[in-house]
Amino acid sequence: MTSTNDIRRSFLDYFEGQGHARVPSAPLVPHNDPTLMFVNAGMVPFKNVFTGLESRAYSTAASSQKCVRAGGKHNDLDNVGYTARHHTFFEMLGNFSFGDYFKEQAINHAWTLLTREWGLDPNRLTATVYHTDDQAFDLWKKIAGLPESRIIRIPTKDNFWAMGPDGPCGPCSEIFYDHGDHIWGGPPGSPEEDGDRFVEIWNLVFMQHLQEADVIVSDLPKPSIDTGMGLERIAAVLQGVHDNYDTDTFKALIAESGALTRTHTTGDNQASHRVIADHLRASGFLVADGVLPANEGRGYVLRRIMRRAMRHAHILGAKEPLMHRLVPSLVSEMGAAYPELVRAQPLIEATLLQEETRFRQTLSNGLRLLDEATASMAEGDTLPGETAFKLYDTYGFPYDLTEDALRGHGMAVDRAGFDAAMAEQKANARAAWKGSGAKASEDVWFDIADEFGGTEFTGYTSTEGEGQVVALVKDGARVEKAEAGEAIILTNQTPFYGESGGQMGDAGTLGNDKGLKARVDDTSKPLGRLHAHHATIESGEIAVGDTVHLKVDAVRRDQIRANHSATHLVHAALRNRLGGHVTQKGSLVAPDRFRFDFSHPSALTPQEIADVEADVNAQIRRNEAVSTRLMTPDDAIAAGAMALFGEKYGDEVRVLSMGSLDELAYSVELCGGTHVAATGDIAIFKIVSEAAVSSGVRRIEALTGEAARQWLVARDERLRETASVLKASPEEVPARVAALVEERRKLERELADAKKALAMGGGGSAPAAGPEQVGGVAFVGQVIDGLDPKELRGAVDEAKARVGSGVVALVAVNEGRASVAVGVTQDLLASHSAVDLVKAAVAALGGQGGGGRPDMAQGGGPEGGKGAEAIDAVRAALAEATAAA
Ligand code: SER
Repeated sequence: MTSTNDIRRSFLDYFEGQGHARVPSAPLVPHNDPTLMFVNAGMVPFKNVFTGLESRAYSTAASSQKCVRAGGKHNDLDNVGYTARHHTFFEMLGNFSFGDYFKEQAINHAWTLLTREWGLDPNRLTATVYHTDDQAFDLWKKIAGLPESRIIRIPTKDNFWAMGPDGPCGPCSEIFYDHGDHIWGGPPGSPEEDGDRFVEIWNLVFMQHLQEADVIVSDLPKPSIDTGMGLERIAAVLQGVHDNYDTDTFKALIAESGALTRTHTTGDNQASHRVIADHLRASGFLVADGVLPANEGRGYVLRRIMRRAMRHAHILGAKEPLMHRLVPSLVSEMGAAYPELVRAQPLIEATLLQEETRFRQTLSNGLRLLDEATASMAEGDTLPGETAFKLYDTYGFPYDLTEDALRGHGMAVDRAGFDAAMAEQKANARAAWKGSGAKASEDVWFDIADEFGGTEFTGYTSTEGEGQVVALVKDGARVEKAEAGEAIILTNQTPFYGESGGQMGDAGTLGNDKGLKARVDDTSKPLGRLHAHHATIESGEIAVGDTVHLKVDAVRRDQIRANHSATHLVHAALRNRLGGHVTQKGSLVAPDRFRFDFSHPSALTPQEIADVEADVNAQIRRNEAVSTRLMTPDDAIAAGAMALFGEKYGDEVRVLSMGSLDELAYSVELCGGTHVAATGDIAIFKIVSEAAVSSGVRRIEALTGEAARQWLVARDERLRETASVLKASPEEVPARVAALVEERRKLERELADAKKALAMGGGGSAPAAGPEQVGGVAFVGQVIDGLDPKELRGAVDEAKARVGSGVVALVAVNEGRASVAVGVTQDLLASHSAVDLVKAAVAALGGQGGGGRPDMAQGGGPEGGKGAEAIDAVRAALAEATAAA
């Protein structure tokens, strides 16, 4: 038997042998088409190559493309499990020509591969062509030798393939395989065509036109080819089975699900096992491509797929979470072809386990409610929408899960009633929000969120992508169009991070090929769900419904990521070094720096700062991958994650683990921010300041990466400049500066002594001011420029000692201010007081007061130029006192 893996390989080998580039599957989340939820055909990643917007190094290619049809336009979810050929996830084999070969070669390749390489019986093959395509009709005759009866002209859209209302399109030709007359059904175009006997296996699209709003508007630059063959279908044909679920890959997955649940895989259980096998593939591949369960957008489609499988596991009697235990089989079946599956295996397992554990907590109660509600219903009845809403809201049953559960009983659900209940709940939420005192300007955000749901954030995995404009806001009001000037732009999805959790919003550009160019200066996150691009339109115009290309300033984002991850590491380092009382009190993560506030009673010592820096840098050098998981807040905290007290977390949180210490993660925190892939991306960590914010809260400001390097370089530069002034090496700078400071101190002392000596006449060569006689009392009065006021008392004491009996008044003038001290020798205290005398001097200096003891008093004043007047004032006061005595 040819395995599915062999078939995939042989398809790609064949076309590679024919000169085609072997192109790996693109991720399931399309980045070039915002209207598409998931890649749902092999040509999607090549859309812009067909239209000529993008060029590649090759003109022919072949791929095996991962596809999901479970949401958006193509949704096969409801049928999976109940038919032979519906899947949520499947692989599309395709060969493509971008203006290289056309119809003839395409038909030739298909026929050669099917009948010569793979040996299919030509008699079992039938082709269809678009009814007017005589050329294709003739080519099938010529190349395949098919009789005219097996080349069927189809006049309907079935044989005109278009990617969507907008995009490349053209007539197509489909190849059908006849599974044999033991199965009911007729050839395409016949009344029995809906039967299962003739199965379409390959679609060759002759891409020629471009359509807009379903109308052909132009021709493609060159006629091209897009073919698509469902791998699961061709595997069934080549393995001689009729049912996709009987091919090797599915048989292995179903056998494992039977073994783990200890149930038979046929009969009543068949649908459940098929659902589980199919949904396991979809879930595994979606998680591997960056989608995680959520309550909006792609994440919600994934959640619906997962929960649908989980309900079937419950039907099979599984007592414990099942899905994650099936992941090893999935990886062993498909991991060789898709290495992303192997890389993501731990994440896939953890995500499935988490989702199933959570869902099981409410699953049985929900099912009980459903049983009660349906007990009185008969086949053909409809479940009230309100009950379906309660199941959704309280028990986490996605709408289609309830539908699926009722399907077996031939019952339906009242969709309109469900929608009405949902609308009512939203209205209540808005009323509650308003009651909390929110501004009226929030209304515009509520309207947008009600209409379109939250913005899907694609920026964890990329910094570029397309988005469809869902709303425009100018001066606080919604508008349909905007041009030149400022506008807030909202798209259905965006890689731009909206400011939250201390991390600043992204900046970048936004534009399209119709001339729109806008700068995004900032992104905010109103209601915590919308990403609002604050843009300045530089040229062109933008309208609701437009598709725009969004490009985050990736350098800036990388800096922000490095800084954000560094806050986690510094948080852990501070706790390790200072103790568990340290908790984050706030942060600001900007591109050029970050600050981190934390609880701690005292300033960090230089040693503590050095230790924290060393610890964080050691983690950076380990360069270990940063891991992200999705958990409930409770589980995350139980698993040791740091949560911010007072912060409101949603139903599920991202848990970031970073670095390692003693075989444990170094830092585990709940965080919705964007982070580095591995700690080495932070490069360098440097604390540049540490200070108090308020009592008990400290703030660290720090740099990483290039900013840290530049800071260190600038510091080094300062050091070298200093060394050069000192004519020393940088290493000698500290000792030299210390010596200089010491020398200066010594010189200052000497200078002061010299000045004093000069003033007092002691030891100096200049004539000292000798005592004069004022009313019979010896008086020394002198102004000394530059004398340190601290020296004043000593100088007065010395002068007193020298005169033996008398009064001394000295004024020291420094930087325009004057200080004065007056001394009276012991023998004169009965008739004179230094306190009275100094007051006279202080007044002359423009100051106030002055005081001390009768033998020594001091004061000062702002008018340094009046030293002589101050001395005169003392002299006069002394004269007055002696006269009075
Ligand atoms: N695009 C076509 C399809 O999806 C052929 O690949 O059927």
